Amino acid sequence: MTTLDRRARPLRDLRISVTDRCNFRCVYCMPKEVFGRDYAFLARRELLTFEEIERVARAAVALGAAKLRITGGEPLVRRDVEQLVAMLAPLGADLTLTTNGALLRAKAEALAAAGLRRITVSLDSLADPTFRAMNDVDVGVETVLDGIEAARAAGLPVKVNCVVKRGVNEGELLPLARYFRETGDTLRFIEYMDVGATNGWRLDDVVPAAEIVSILEREFGLEALDPQYPGEVAKRYRYRDGGGEVGVIASVTQPFCGACTRARLSADGKLYTCLFAVAGHDLRPLVRGGATAAEVVKALAAIWSKRTDRYSEIRTAETPIARKVEMSYIGG
Ligand SMILES: C[S@@+](CC[C@H](N)C(=O)[O-])C[C@H]1O[C@@H](n2cnc3c(N)ncnc32)[C@H](O)[C@@H]1O
Ligand code: SF4
Repeated sequence: MTTLDRRARPLRDLRISVTDRCNFRCVYCMPKEVFGRDYAFLARRELLTFEEIERVARAAVALGAAKLRITGGEPLVRRDVEQLVAMLAPLGADLTLTTNGALLRAKAEALAAAGLRRITVSLDSLADPTFRAMNDVDVGVETVLDGIEAARAAGLPVKVNCVVKRGVNEGELLPLARYFRETGDTLRFIEYMDVGATNGWRLDDVVPAAEIVSILEREFGLEALDPQYPGEVAKRYRYRDGGGEVGVIASVTQPFCGACTRARLSADGKLYTCLFAVAGHDLRPLVRGGATAAEVVKALAAIWSKRTDRYSEIRTAETPIARKVEMSYIGG
């Protein structure tokens, strides 16, 4: 069954945040000044249980979702997250997880054994001082590289995400590209986005994807690749000399709302139909209150069919206008 939204976009991709907590304090996501000791994170009873998450995911798959991504906050800080992987794997969707990699060495094998198909690891710099400054909790690059190696050893294909912030890590593009060309992992550079209300985002902090591509092009020579499926967010390139591929995600400078097929489930069960939404649809009463599977599908279809979001296409330098939800809460 396929349900289209008001702009004829199907639901293809559900991102599931399993926690709003994180062991990092990335400056562009959970700045320490805001997410410090007194921050009011969700209480345990507020979080959806794995069974409740599975019910929503099952409904999304019934509506045509082909991709499920477990995220957060940092998903690997949620206890026994591999049990959730084992519960979602039989739904048959492409099942993946995004992590900062700090706990990946300890978890990689269990995740792969539970049925995870692939993994995305975020890494913003190979230079230790820059990386420590960006995660702001003094975790070194080696820890993440070691986690990536453990994932590979467990048989998980790895993608690496790097958020580029002007004046902070733009000098890291070439070292990262060189490194991951060698390992064969796919690298994606992401434009710094104005998610949430706490990172003090300014348009000037964004390094446009076109600039990133021209830096890579000058050094290595690139050839654009065709999208693998409609709505693919990364623009992909092949290194001319055959050294694998690299991509950019130009969510700010070249918005892709027109092809956006993504919904996000927050850790406490609110469904958001846009990363930049100010409010979600609370599914927790339904999945906690004994609704049938058909009722959950119906509720999800009703939300999706009313969807009109296209924030990135109408963003201006003056945004944020309203207080948007944080990426660590909604799931990146
Ligand atoms: C919110 S995180 C959650 C998963 C995990 N903690 C991690 O960092 O991979 C998901 C992705 O969002 C990215 N992200 C966070 N804040 C961002 C921002 N302001 N602009 C662009 N990407 C951002 C992160 O770098 C990460 O790759
Ligand atoms: S980007 Fe990921 S690792 Fe960094 S603070 Fe946000 S949730 Fe944590």
